[in-house]
Amino acid sequence: MGVSPSFQAPAGTRDVLPPESARWEALVDCFARVAGQAGYGLVLTPLFEEVEVFARGVGESTDVVSREMYEFEDRGGRRMALRPEFTASVVRAFIQYRPTTPWKVWYWGPAFRYERPQAGRYRQFHQVGVEGLGSDEPHLDVEVVALAWRFYRALGLTRLRLDLNSLGDGVCRPAYRSALVDFLGSRSAELCSEHRDRWQLNPLRVLDCKKEECRAVAAGAPHQLDYLCQPCSDHWGAVLEGLQAIKIPYVVQPRLVRGLDYYTRTTFEVAAEALGTAQDAVGGGGRYDGLVEALGGPPTPAIGFSLGIERILLACDAEGVFASAGSELAAFVVDVTGGAAALAITEELREAGISADRAFGRRSLRAQLRTADRSGAAVALIVGPEEAAAGTVQLRWLRSDRGQEEIDRAKVVSRLREELG
Ligand code: HAM
Repeated sequence: MGVSPSFQAPAGTRDVLPPESARWEALVDCFARVAGQAGYGLVLTPLFEEVEVFARGVGESTDVVSREMYEFEDRGGRRMALRPEFTASVVRAFIQYRPTTPWKVWYWGPAFRYERPQAGRYRQFHQVGVEGLGSDEPHLDVEVVALAWRFYRALGLTRLRLDLNSLGDGVCRPAYRSALVDFLGSRSAELCSEHRDRWQLNPLRVLDCKKEECRAVAAGAPHQLDYLCQPCSDHWGAVLEGLQAIKIPYVVQPRLVRGLDYYTRTTFEVAAEALGTAQDAVGGGGRYDGLVEALGGPPTPAIGFSLGIERILLACDAEGVFASAGSELAAFVVDVTGGAAALAITEELREAGISADRAFGRRSLRAQLRTADRSGAAVALIVGPEEAAAGTVQLRWLRSDRGQEEIDRAKVVSRLREELG
């Protein structure tokens, strides 16, 4: 018989265990609060969709769809994909249910992309995000950017850069595209090996290529900002004005193109300067005024963003902010009389809404007290043979020098309520 294999989490995935997971909970709680304050409600969509939702939504020629999607055939022979992002799923749900607009929703959860795993880049990663559908007003763009900004600030992050661009719309994009095609055509021999022969497929992608050769060419490429039609130009101006009015600092980044094809007009990314790596984008988003129609719905302008939880936490570590949330345990019950008292007291406390834990395994007083101390609880409630006989417990403060006192067993709940508020 061979040795049984020792299984590990798949490459590019991570297990999040306590106490690290407490930070995740706190992060999602914080996002829920900031989004809720701005009138966004939680939306839950499936982890998988028909492949076409993403192929048509995100774009066939994007890396995300053409190389990174986890596709599979289900047992009914349907082509499915694990979601590589949320926006196309949320739009699919919008079209399916036709809620009244503006429809403002937030979400959190895992997304899947078959990328080369490295620091800050995973195959299963997690995002928080919002989508706002049904308004083309620049103020919605400003609200959405401000929401992301407020969230980062609430976590304590300060070393952030907001990069902003406009990608125009169906009216002005073609003129820009043909200028870009002319430009790239004249320089195609200088592009990286991947784009040299394939740049025509999606010329904008070249501007997003990380290879030195493409970056050198992209540096001289024309900008969409110089080709905006009047309505796009007015929209862009109003967004900048709105951001200035509420004092959100931004950097106009004419070369910012995003890796997904649905964008129109305002696009943005947030970089965490403390990360100092290639994976410094802690979030990104923008308008996608044509996506609802592309997926079969009525013309509906929209904008949103998604932020990467793992990268945000890395940025928090790099800035030394948003420390791990401490234990929230109020009481730890130490019972050396067999465990029946521990069972009764912990359950009574929990019923009363007071958090409580206990030791298992009939361990010694010393060992149980050590566990109590490590648990982070504010008090230990100790039951030995004498207390059991007298109907009392010893209440020992673990985080202060108030020492120990014996209290009536029947008064435990009311006493802890008083003490812990
Ligand atoms: P995205 O730029 O593809 O946009 O992803 C947003 C964020 O997710 C990134 O800035 C990064 O923080 C995180 N992220 C992406 N891929 C990975 C990965 N492999 N490992 C770790 N983190 C990652 C979107 O997903 C769009 N849906 C955003 C949006 C919403 N646009 C409009 N609405």
